[in-house]
Amino acid sequence: MRLGIISALAEEQHGLLEALQSPAKHVHGMREYTTGKLWEIDAVCVLSRIGKVAAAMTAAILVEKFGVTHIIFTGVAGSGDKNVHVGDIVVAESLVQHDFDASPLFPKFEIPLTGLSSFATDVALTEKLADAAAPFTRVHRGLIASGDQFIGKLTQIQAVKAALPAVLAVEMEGAAVAQVCFELGIPFAVIRTISDNANDDAAVDFMHFIKTVASRYAFDVIRNFCKP
Ligand code: ADE
Repeated sequence: MRLGIISALAEEQHGLLEALQSPAKHVHGMREYTTGKLWEIDAVCVLSRIGKVAAAMTAAILVEKFGVTHIIFTGVAGSGDKNVHVGDIVVAESLVQHDFDASPLFPKFEIPLTGLSSFATDVALTEKLADAAAPFTRVHRGLIASGDQFIGKLTQIQAVKAALPAVLAVEMEGAAVAQVCFELGIPFAVIRTISDNANDDAAVDFMHFIKTVASRYAFDVIRNFCKP
């Protein structure tokens, strides 16, 4: 296994670079890929930056240039469900691009020529990540929706939920990584700590949370995941 670990922002990757043994930095396409050993696992850590294109490019480079065989995305998300609270973790079972709409050519949300409107995560990786997170907080599993919008208004999250009632969390990268991994045949998983309720308070809650709890969980969960 060679594991690619992507986060959008430095806070979401907190501690991982320091934990990498024999780290080596490689700059490519305006991103820094750090290779090394995370406990026993051969790993490559990288910050994708924000949004679906940024994440898709990063995932593709991880596979094509750095030879990763598996990918995990770790970061924060807004809640998409009343039972999912700030500080909880959501591990994706599938991901949808909530802002994708090629209708009437294709059904809304369907990614043309794949026949799919959501992409399933790898069952074994997802199970292992959920187990790694369980000691720290409440863990939910289900649908995560990604789009090129920060959901910071109640009306926005209501619109997403009206169209996709099963959504547990909203973020800006996971479903893009999911599509790339599906198309390249790479097993992947996505784990998100809830930083805000994707409502009118989301921006303030996000800024506070990302500096505090998010950074701790990212590290603890990945350490549990990687340790033999
Ligand atoms: N990531 C964290 N919170 C988010 C939100 N409310 N919308 C989109 N991405 C997020």
